[in-house]
Amino acid sequence: MQDFLHDPRFSGIEPLKNKVWLSTPTMHSDEQKWVDEAIRTNWVSTVGANIDHVEKAMAELIGVRYAVGLSCGTAAIHLATKLAGEKLYGQAKPNAGTLAGHRVFCSDMTFDASVNPVAYEDGEAVFIDTERETWNMDPAALEKAFELYPDVKLVVLAHLYGTPGRMNEIKAICERHGALIVEDAAESLGAKYKLNGAWVETGSIGDYNAISFNGNKIITGSSGGMFVTDSLQDANKVRKWSTQSRENAPWYQHEEIGYNYRMSNIIAGVVRGQIPYLPEHIAQKKAVWERYEKGLADLPVKMNPWNREMSEPNFWLSCLIIDEDAMAPFVRGEKEELWRHESGKSSPGEILRALSAFNAEGRPIWKPMHMQPIYRMHPFVTVEGNGRARSNAYIAGAGADVGADIFRRGLCLPSDNKMTAENQDIVIEIIHRCFQ
Ligand SMILES: Cc1ncc(COP(=O)(O)O)c(C=O)c1O
Repeated sequence: MQDFLHDPRFSGIEPLKNKVWLSTPTMHSDEQKWVDEAIRTNWVSTVGANIDHVEKAMAELIGVRYAVGLSCGTAAIHLATKLAGEKLYGQAKPNAGTLAGHRVFCSDMTFDASVNPVAYEDGEAVFIDTERETWNMDPAALEKAFELYPDVKLVVLAHLYGTPGRMNEIKAICERHGALIVEDAAESLGAKYKLNGAWVETGSIGDYNAISFNGNKIITGSSGGMFVTDSLQDANKVRKWSTQSRENAPWYQHEEIGYNYRMSNIIAGVVRGQIPYLPEHIAQKKAVWERYEKGLADLPVKMNPWNREMSEPNFWLSCLIIDEDAMAPFVRGEKEELWRHESGKSSPGEILRALSAFNAEGRPIWKPMHMQPIYRMHPFVTVEGNGRARSNAYIAGAGADVGADIFRRGLCLPSDNKMTAENQDIVIEIIHRCFQ
């Protein structure tokens, strides 16, 4: 293992006194006030003024009619997926999922919480490869997927790292094929997209939409999430499902399977205090992204891309991707990796270890779902069609796999909004030394 602290390439750089993180919560002071208020008034449950407030405020912010506070973003995606499944295929028995026997097209480059709810509902995820313009679901690969699996009626997609995907094309394809969209806006709260000429918020674009207040997100409740929608009926259904599916009866009466997914009024207090600071957090994250773009401009790397005409990301995480001809030898196994330094080149493995040695936290690009052991036997569709079994012992080369390529050459940079410009300069300098 390389000893970065004593490597002459890094001479003169001292480990950062205060660790620079990938993305941490940023508390102000109103969070405490609203949590205290909930405790003082004894509203320490899954009802209360904080919940009412944040549901109203978030619906307004996202530009939808209703928001339902839930325990986490994963719960929101689960109930969104279940609603879609029920609309498409009817109510399932209590011991079965609504997607049993059905395939669902899913973002491939995302956190697994986007797609696991398809499995919770007994569906089979079919992973759709990624495009290079925004690192999200590739509309051309989605079109191919509908050629291969014309019966599919549901698409689950995320906006990776806060950058909106190509939603105009994706929506048009889904409309043509009569498919519904579950939009996972967990990472992209506050990001805007030009949908058919009009600017809208991510989280308002799908047929069923979810956001997250996880501790690492752009605003947080420590945990928490929301289902957001224009449909009163869907909002009411999610409210019911999330509180154990109680019927309107004097006793506990159940006609449907239920969940304990509701947001607590304490968590909602933290979210309530955070909401006014969303624009400030986005501005700070954008400044971090721009400082990296400028500071790394002379290296053989690119920043995570976004479409300046069509979108305004929330810049939740800054990432880089190393040019192919500047990649030093680098291999990954299931849980370990090996790299070798070569002059003028580097690798995500080397850069992340170097940053860590100097007390800065980065992270590999989210490993694509089609490469995950749990989903390795699921179909994967690229712009060329079936993305599985494309190598051939008798023919050189293999098929396109954009997600695998971004995973191999990319990494998430320390993106904390509280990182000082001086510390970011040190991070940038460490990355430069990696390429020496
Ligand atoms: C893309 C994406 N979807 C879903 C989630 C799940 O949200 P939560 O942690 O609130 O359940 C996360 C992150 O946590 C995420 O990054």
